Amino acid sequence: MDTSDINKRIIVTGGAGFIGSNFLLYLVPKYPDYLFINVDCLTYAGNLTNLKSIERAENYRFEHIDIRDFDALSDCFDRHNPTGLIHLAAESHVDRSITGPSAFVETNIIGTFHLLELARKRADRAGNFRFHHVSTDEVFGSLGETGQFTESTPYRPNSPYSASKASSDHLVRAYHSTYGLDVVTTNCSNNYGPYQFPEKLIPLMIRNAREGIPLPVYGDGRNVRDWLYVEDHCRALDLVFHEGKSGETYNIGGRNEIENIELVALLCRTMDQMLGGGPREKLITFVTDRLGHDRRYAIDASKIQAELGWTPAHTFEKGMVDTITWYLSHEEWLDNCISGQYLKYYDEMYAGR
Ligand code: NAD
Ligand code: TYD
Repeated sequence: MDTSDINKRIIVTGGAGFIGSNFLLYLVPKYPDYLFINVDCLTYAGNLTNLKSIERAENYRFEHIDIRDFDALSDCFDRHNPTGLIHLAAESHVDRSITGPSAFVETNIIGTFHLLELARKRADRAGNFRFHHVSTDEVFGSLGETGQFTESTPYRPNSPYSASKASSDHLVRAYHSTYGLDVVTTNCSNNYGPYQFPEKLIPLMIRNAREGIPLPVYGDGRNVRDWLYVEDHCRALDLVFHEGKSGETYNIGGRNEIENIELVALLCRTMDQMLGGGPREKLITFVTDRLGHDRRYAIDASKIQAELGWTPAHTFEKGMVDTITWYLSHEEWLDNCISGQYLKYYDEMYAGR
């Protein structure tokens, strides 16, 4: 296919990760007239097998590039002439940021800076270039018993992860204020659903419960997160990229606040019902708390609802059943994540191509 006449050529960074994979699986069939260029360096969290069903689509390309490598990115921009970019690539796990923060600074801050520079140059040459930055509610810090994060809540990040994301949010904002770059930023709550790497709470607990090994709950288990089903998030990203107002930020949340301990207990009961056996709740084990563990996150998503008409479609109960069902029917995927076997797939598929 000759892609030179394609009006919309969109770079999606981090497209082999959890949210990126779900997003590309949603976007590629929905917009056959666009070209989507997935820029991903395939860290432990990137998995191309997720994208098997679209890997040969005419409107999809994969670029094995590290966003820390400015020259490789620049070459990619020159070859594809992108008209917009949706930035999901990041080091995303808080626990890893505590034990090894440097990759978080390099990818999340410097990598974002590289993309902004290239976007700015492209906008100078080609007119408009939309830069959609995907961020987190963790930039706002921790809430007490009440209240919700709004778009005007001051930034108070507590972990190296959230501080690196906050830094990148500020850079994005500055490129709009200083250079007039067309930017939109979204700050979402904790996602869950298919293809999430089993270091994060929900897939980790599903995997351990499946294997009958301890379910490690940090601290007293009373920390609260506001869970967003990844498909609902993808719909929101699509809307903001296409219809969000330049320079604006949008909070995206699932209206599903739940304490970790309650969540893990619900997950155990649901798996007991689905699989028999149990009770799996007896596997719950309280372990030493995470350093600087934020107590509560909750999102006020009324802006995106009022301005763009978005609401989450999944209740937590339904999302949880769908998620458990997905992991139980993708045991090989889960096992390969853990053994790192999926890296072989990349070599077989893309070596010498
Ligand atoms: P993920 O860790 O599952 O995937 C990250 C992807 O980025 C992987 O494919 C990885 O290979 C790629 N990547 C990492 N470093 C890279 C680099 N230097 N160059 C190129 N690619 C690189 O993350 P996710 O959960 O899909 O999150 C996507 C985005 O959404 C991130 O920016 C994250 O901060 C944000 N976010 C996630 C959540 C959540 O609950 N998962 C919540 C709020 C915000
Ligand atoms: P996580 O999935 O790491 O997301 P985040 O830290 O970005 O919110 O963790 C979600 C919550 O679950 C958080 O309060 C930490 C807690 N948690 C556990 O209790 N045990 C675990 O093994 C993990 C991974 C997380």
